Amino acid sequence: MAPPRASSLLLAGLAAALSCTDERTNPLVPKFGEATAEELVGAMTLDEKIAEMHGTGAVDELFETAPNERLGIPGLKMVDGPRGVRAGHATAFPVAAARGATFDVELERRVGEAIGVEASAKGANMILAPTMNVLRHPAWGRAQETYGEDPTHVGAMAVAFIEGAQTHVLASAKHFAVNSIEDTRFDVDVTIDERTLREVYLPHFRRAVVDGHVASVMSAYNAVNGAPMSESAHLLRDILKGEWGFDGFVESDWVFGTRSTAGAAIGGLDIEMPTPVYFGGALSDAVLAGAVPESIIDEAATRVVRKKLAFADKLRPTVDATKVESPEHLALARDVAVESMVLLVNDGALPIARAPGTLVVVGPLAKVANLGDLGSSAVTPSSAITPLQGIEAVAAPLGVVHVEGPTFSTAELETLASASAVVVVAGLTSDEEGEGLITKGGDRETLSLPPAQEKMILDVAAVAKQTIVVVEAGSAIVVRPWVDQVSALLMAWYPGMQGGAAIADVLFGDASPGGRLPASFPRAEADLVSFDHSSLEVTYGFLHGYRWLDDQDTEPEFPFGFGLSYTTFAMSGLAVTRGAEGVIEVGVDVTNTGPRDGDEVVQVYVGAPAGSAVPRAPRDLRAFTRVHLAAGETRRASLTVREEDLAYFDVATSTWIVEPGSYAFSVGSSSRALPLAVSSMLP
Ligand code: BGC
Repeated sequence: MAPPRASSLLLAGLAAALSCTDERTNPLVPKFGEATAEELVGAMTLDEKIAEMHGTGAVDELFETAPNERLGIPGLKMVDGPRGVRAGHATAFPVAAARGATFDVELERRVGEAIGVEASAKGANMILAPTMNVLRHPAWGRAQETYGEDPTHVGAMAVAFIEGAQTHVLASAKHFAVNSIEDTRFDVDVTIDERTLREVYLPHFRRAVVDGHVASVMSAYNAVNGAPMSESAHLLRDILKGEWGFDGFVESDWVFGTRSTAGAAIGGLDIEMPTPVYFGGALSDAVLAGAVPESIIDEAATRVVRKKLAFADKLRPTVDATKVESPEHLALARDVAVESMVLLVNDGALPIARAPGTLVVVGPLAKVANLGDLGSSAVTPSSAITPLQGIEAVAAPLGVVHVEGPTFSTAELETLASASAVVVVAGLTSDEEGEGLITKGGDRETLSLPPAQEKMILDVAAVAKQTIVVVEAGSAIVVRPWVDQVSALLMAWYPGMQGGAAIADVLFGDASPGGRLPASFPRAEADLVSFDHSSLEVTYGFLHGYRWLDDQDTEPEFPFGFGLSYTTFAMSGLAVTRGAEGVIEVGVDVTNTGPRDGDEVVQVYVGAPAGSAVPRAPRDLRAFTRVHLAAGETRRASLTVREEDLAYFDVATSTWIVEPGSYAFSVGSSSRALPLAVSSMLP
């Protein structure tokens, strides 16, 4: 039944209203849950409208906006963040980079839902996630918070997270947009041409809006083409709210995220967080002085109230500790960590055989639950499993010895030499990468491991029979100085509170690794586009990541999409057919040709027609799916590519154009292993 409108309320309640002085019971006053957003905002004073447009600070780790008691409108209660809830103890999931490596959208939907459940159970009604900036360069301090370098992949993962989370709370797609340097995040101005902006830095945000129906978008700290993102009318009004039809609200990133009163309000910012520096009394004064039209305030307040109405049943959650760190969420955290592990090198040392002998586990990080950055994405679980604990729990009959490192005594070298195998746990921590100004981390100084760790790996490799390296980090590591000396290399990311158990699951073969790199690992840092963490002005080109490496014909150490398994796969029978309404169907048979069950990630890349009117990447990922196959099993994977995704943005006409011609569809298991290809004439 449609809610009664203000006009009918008016007639029905007129008599009662004549004698009524209490606004809460006055039938003339529209009520939250009964009236529309427009009616509620229409009944607000200027100050009440502006109160919808700013935070009021933090209470018990939740960032709040004020409720409107008179109209019965609840306030927002926001909480970070992308790998779990940053309030008290909560389930610490693997970081988003790890979840990107799963290439498993259904799993990510479950993570989003679990984080939404926990946010709600903590009393929040909005989660400040997902972080979904395309990883332009792996040295970005917050690389671990996002899903990877490819817009199609980031978009698909983020949509899944949003859909899951929004079954319980509002989500926030952040940081809109072109946010990829941390150390100068408040000041950097990114110059970017319109085509690069549209085709590389925005498509995933568009998906979050159009497919994910995300309730809110957080504007980034940085400026784009001279305008701070919290007042970029071009991005906020023309593109986000105009072209994409976003009907939610934009909140600023936190301290220093809002830079002006009139500029931000007119530019399209709806909520200043976390407190009213520009959007409190100053905004009211600006309206009264005629510097900001009241229609701008009406629109912003309506956007906020509209989303509150859409999420009305979720705005007053019940605090419920039993829903936090539940057995189901811990099991999910472990499954995700297992699926996220990327096996990069294996000369047969893995899986480790459970036979009598000694396994030596080396490295200070073996005894640490290395959960990642300590900035706004930090999550504090009530307990967490270290790699050493995970290995010790399942190694029998192998005996496990820990040698601290990074330097070794003569006796320790003898222990390493006599062991059946040595597992070295290496990597980065919040000291080397993370959110700027909050932790030591910030942007990375180098893509290499710290020198002491490189030496530690080489010292082990010089004496051990088998050196198995487990790397924990948020993104690509340059491994060239030592990788040829080791028997196996497993990328474990920051694997969350169950990480130690998941690492052991994979090392011992209780699970077969099936994660794939969501970002290219270069041989040398110079192989990638440049990254300067002190930039105040920077220009972004069209290519980065695998597109750049492909364009330059530069061999990566490990390509985007790459990952080994304990089994083997083959693909055949590629068919590309035109479906209805601009959808292209891609079908391929995938066979597990090896001795055990495992997961393959089918990847579809598309190259534009020869002689394109604009420069193109050699090929772009357009679809992917993760397939679980029992040993010997064959299944047909079905994927879809939208014709519109093959368009280029024509700057002169501001339109998207699908060029007529022959498009090359290549299918395989990484951006550099594409055994199947067919051409298709489009559009
Ligand atoms: C970060 C956001 C975060 C916010 C609130 C900012 O510094 O950039 O990602 O959500 O703080 O903690």
